[in-house]
Amino acid sequence: MTDVTPFIEQPPPARAAAVIPAAGLGLRLGPGAPKALRPLGGTPMLVHAVRAMARARAIALVVVVAPAEQVALVRSLLDEHPPPPAVEQLVVAGGATRQESVRLGLAALPEEIEVVLVHDAARPLVPVGTVDAVAAAVRAGAPAVVPALPVTDTVKSVAATAASGDPEPVVATPDRSLLRAVQTPQGFDRATLLAAHRANTADQATDDAGLVEQLGVPVVLVPGHEEAFKVTRPLDLLLAEAVLARRRTTDDF
Ligand code: CTP
Ligand code: MG
Repeated sequence: MTDVTPFIEQPPPARAAAVIPAAGLGLRLGPGAPKALRPLGGTPMLVHAVRAMARARAIALVVVVAPAEQVALVRSLLDEHPPPPAVEQLVVAGGATRQESVRLGLAALPEEIEVVLVHDAARPLVPVGTVDAVAAAVRAGAPAVVPALPVTDTVKSVAATAASGDPEPVVATPDRSLLRAVQTPQGFDRATLLAAHRANTADQATDDAGLVEQLGVPVVLVPGHEEAFKVTRPLDLLLAEAVLARRRTTDDF
């Protein structure tokens, strides 16, 4: 007997893009090239970040937001280090703030992209498992997903008015068990993230999820990873080199 069961087509998986803001100067790292272009294990930090995102199965497109003067340089760098064949990449010029750079990256997304992961170039060593977990949570229906870790230092609030250089008066000590340090990639339903960026162009939030929270849309946390740390100061570069060296000896990286 022939099987007459009609072939039921599964809906195609939502296509996901990574937007990588990489247009910052890296002032806290000290004098030198823009942070994303500085080498880590001999390869620009940005290339590590692009690879980390392109390796995730969900990612079909990577949009790199480069320093405005370095767009051509970044394009040629990425041509030298091509992504897997199924992943497209685009380079656009960034703006004066991280928020503006992300907005410019979002503007370059093609229509069919439904899920967006925003990932700092300054977090070059995020493990692929973290990227996959964020993408999976968005695909499962969460409009905004952030990887986060418990805070290890005790955190104090200070008065906004203290003159710089003076000892700062402490206002409060929030309960550490209720605090989380957030990382990237932060994952979003595309329409939600676009609405959040449109609603706030005043550059107040230090992360994209913060803009979504301002809309009143729920944001959820998934476990982050200590290797997704942000390279901000010179000591972070030493740590990143050490993590990379360990990976090269242990996982044939
Ligand atoms: N970023 C960006 N455009 C800006 C500022 C920042 O795309 N105008 C990006 C950075 O390139 C980085 C991420 O946002 O990947 C996080 O920012 P941060 O760690 O603060 O990097 P920088 O701004 O480069 O560093 P600094 O603040 O020390 O100058
Ligand atoms: Mg900055």
